[in-house]
Amino acid sequence: MVSFRFVLAAPCFALLLPFTFAIPHSKDNLKRQGSRPDDHVLNRQRADAVKEAFTYAWNGYYKYAFPNDELNPVSNGFSNSRNGWGASAVDAFSTALVMQIPQIVNQILDYIPTINFDETADEISLFETTIRYLGGLLSGYDLLKGPLSNLAKNTTAVDAILTQAQRLGNNLAFAFNTPTGIPSNNLYYNPDRTDGSTTNGLATTGTLVLEWTRLGDLTGNKTFGDLAQKGESYLNNPQPATSEPWPGLVGMNININTGLFEDAFGGWVGGADSYYEYLIKMYVYDTTRFASYKDRWIKAADSSIAHLVSHPSTRPDLTFLSVYNGKKLIYESQHLACFDGGNFILGGLVLKQQKYIDFGLTLVNGCEDTYTSTLTGIGPESFRWVQNDTLPTDTSNPGPPASQADFYAKAGFYITSSYYILRPEVIESFYYAFRATGDQKYRDWAWNAFVAINSTARTGSGFAELRDVNAPKGGGFVDFQDSFLFAEVLKYSYLIHAPDNVWQVEHNGVNEWVFNTEAHPFKVVGPPI
Ligand SMILES: *[C@@H]1O[C@H](CO)[C@@H](O)[C@H](O)[C@H]1NC(C)=O
Ligand SMILES: *[C@@H]1O[C@H](CO)[C@@H](O)[C@H](O)[C@H]1NC(C)=O
Ligand SMILES: *[C@@H]1O[C@H](CO)[C@@H](O)[C@H](O)[C@H]1NC(C)=O
Ligand SMILES: *[C@@H]1O[C@H](CO)[C@@H](O)[C@H](O)[C@H]1NC(C)=O
Repeated sequence: MVSFRFVLAAPCFALLLPFTFAIPHSKDNLKRQGSRPDDHVLNRQRADAVKEAFTYAWNGYYKYAFPNDELNPVSNGFSNSRNGWGASAVDAFSTALVMQIPQIVNQILDYIPTINFDETADEISLFETTIRYLGGLLSGYDLLKGPLSNLAKNTTAVDAILTQAQRLGNNLAFAFNTPTGIPSNNLYYNPDRTDGSTTNGLATTGTLVLEWTRLGDLTGNKTFGDLAQKGESYLNNPQPATSEPWPGLVGMNININTGLFEDAFGGWVGGADSYYEYLIKMYVYDTTRFASYKDRWIKAADSSIAHLVSHPSTRPDLTFLSVYNGKKLIYESQHLACFDGGNFILGGLVLKQQKYIDFGLTLVNGCEDTYTSTLTGIGPESFRWVQNDTLPTDTSNPGPPASQADFYAKAGFYITSSYYILRPEVIESFYYAFRATGDQKYRDWAWNAFVAINSTARTGSGFAELRDVNAPKGGGFVDFQDSFLFAEVLKYSYLIHAPDNVWQVEHNGVNEWVFNTEAHPFKVVGPPI
């Protein structure tokens, strides 16, 4: 339940909602009634501690790995899993900006104009390249052309960011050259070609439209937006009808030659996730052009509340979203899926529908439980549970292995993949929960998660993946630090404690910025003035 803590100013919503339009940009619009007197100092100290962790990881990357894609923090080595264009540097850009660390901002700004986006020997993922590289570039450009222009030493380099984004977009545009316009995801250069796959995934197809539309709007070349929107149109008008088991909830694989879905498997999990995320974020980006995307989000959200909700047998107080195969539910979820709470909250704020906020907060609670239940205080990569009302004779809904029976009895889930690979989604949803409610509790949860990550995964010159979140010391390290540590984990960990600013999510539902799925904030077109 959200408590009534914000000043009501718009009478038409006052009866429906506990919040409504506050004075735009008021610096203290999230100050909680009844805050502890030391909250201000406490939150500044926490924000500074996250900044310290970011600076530590950046310095390790800069010393041992830059301009390669990733740091291997245990061995002080490096790897290039994202085409060798400096993924960690581009992904760290908007975080260094919102943290306002001029030295790191300018190290990355000097580098970006030098990236050779015309060459790579490796396979290119259209999706990953879009959300990390295009996303990082467009966000840095928006911030440096806007509220953070004071941080750039070289204004020529700022203009070069957009030139680089356009070059990358032009290089990748051949992906959309298919019989339907649904893009191929796996690409090669020289000569331009694909891996020959006849299908693309829901998330990989449906998580391009924000970046490519922004690129089109900033450059004036509308083709970029048109390409991504054409691909998206098949997702928003799904065929055949059997691929949409409930209104708005669709399958996972789309045939790029016919435009038809090939299955009816799905949920808010990896492979589908950010398609749903972007439906509402496109509406935040431009309420005029993307009203029909919002309608699809509402259908998906309502169907999820009506059909996917599940409570574990040992902890019926918890709420998780199931996955589905047709109308059959599968009681399993993932760290990745924990963005769902935050996305429901964003939808509720923007649409002024308290039911989505309340539902989002129950999902946030479930994801918090996946963190607090483990030995490390960090949640696992994937988990299952037994649906509360399952008959003992139902073999399709298996219980935990004997080794996890006690754990399941207390936690309400059992672990099916014990890794933590520096993912952000749980902290991301804490961020939305805090921005919507102003409740310090969510800041405390995010802080506890950050402290657990900092004390368990921090090693060598940065942060490493953990093998087992429910073992002492996380069960040992995997010597890899993905770029989304910089883009997402440390950004949301910071922003939840940071002061209000234009790029923060607004509790009144009127946002000037929207975060792409890699947590890069873009300036929105917004609602008509
Ligand atoms: C500023 O950036 C431009 C574009 O990258 C570069 O050519 C120029 O040398 C930079 N100027 C300085 C003073 O570093
Ligand atoms: C706009 O972008 C498309 C896709 O890359 C490209 O084919 C076209 O030449 C561009 N148009 C202009 C005027 O730059
Ligand atoms: C759990 O299942 C029991 C038995 O079917 C039911 O009475 C109860 O309402 C369920 N609880 C929740 C929270 O769904
Ligand atoms: C994070 O870890 C470093 C290194 O162990 C430590 O110095 C720092 O105090 C930690 N930060 C927090 C907030 O615990």
